[in-house]
Amino acid sequence: MSTAPATNEIPGALALARVIAVANDKGGVGKTSVTANLGALYAQAGYRVLLVDLNRQANLSDDLGYRGADIDDQGAGLLMSLMTGKVLQAVAVPGRPNLFVVPGGKHLTDLTGVMVGRVQNHGREAMRLLASVLAPIAGEYDLVIIDTPPENTLLVDLALGTARWLLMPTRSDGGGLVGMQLLAERYIIARQINPALALLGVVLFGTSRGASAIHRDVRAKVESAFGIGASPVLTAIIGHSERIAVDGRDRGRVAHELESDAATQPAWWESLRAGTPAAQRIAPTAANVAEDYRQLGAEVLQLLAAAEGSA
Ligand SMILES: Nc1ncnc2c1ncn2[C@@H]1O[C@H](COP(=O)(O)OP(=O)(O)OP(=O)(O)O)[C@@H](O)[C@H]1O
Ligand SMILES: [Mg+2]
Repeated sequence: MSTAPATNEIPGALALARVIAVANDKGGVGKTSVTANLGALYAQAGYRVLLVDLNRQANLSDDLGYRGADIDDQGAGLLMSLMTGKVLQAVAVPGRPNLFVVPGGKHLTDLTGVMVGRVQNHGREAMRLLASVLAPIAGEYDLVIIDTPPENTLLVDLALGTARWLLMPTRSDGGGLVGMQLLAERYIIARQINPALALLGVVLFGTSRGASAIHRDVRAKVESAFGIGASPVLTAIIGHSERIAVDGRDRGRVAHELESDAATQPAWWESLRAGTPAAQRIAPTAANVAEDYRQLGAEVLQLLAAAEGSA
């Protein structure tokens, strides 16, 4: 039986030090929103950022507005790289300098089958497959963020077998927390093959700001799932705003972009006189959500800097 290369045999493996996997086994907990918003914010701040989309549904292409654009290969390139071992090809996201993506999409439907075969032949080493095609280009970026699908252990394993850091969004309800426990089990397995992997933190997503008792409860559950001493729930939270979520995904604009779009839209009374339906206006809460993501972005960078400083 042949084996995939071990961690230290992957060419350029050191370049994977700034790879963050955004994951939770549970669906709808903010994985894609966090990936899109942090990616666009960091790129706007001048960091060179690569996003890798492991999702068949590719909501990242909705959030960033490139669904159906020329760059949108629906995951064909990613699938091909993973099947052949050819280095990943990233493309520039239109209209967003410094932001690059390896798109996901319908072609990734075949990826689970590919991974089943790899696991049969190579065992857990199959989890390093993405690492080996990403490592040669990862050094070209300041940050690489991988958006993972829900309820697909094999594809999450690919991300956990690659990343240096795990960032886990969760809603404060039971579902997100069960998903977190399932992910904690994969995390422990992934560390056997990718010992560099560590928990960067847990982000409370779509939660109400004042619910501090609930937030305390989540913190305790995270600690028991990942072990005492693990990174806690981050201070930054992403506040609940369904309206901004819908506006953003419909328009292909992330929160800080909606915030600046809202600042230049006509005053509400002008829209009223012009007969513009209220739903076509961007809600002023865009600024709150944008600020939440700025706080999260800053906290993530501080954690990375602290970890790198002590390395
Ligand atoms: N700040 C917010 N408050 C409330 N809901 C939000 C917020 N931001 C996004 N949403 C909504 O939450 C839902 C889930 O978000 P998102 O797609 O980011 O989660 P996900 O974990 O990537 O989901 P999936 O597992 O399906 O890939 C979406 O319908 C989105 O519109
Ligand atoms: Mg998603």
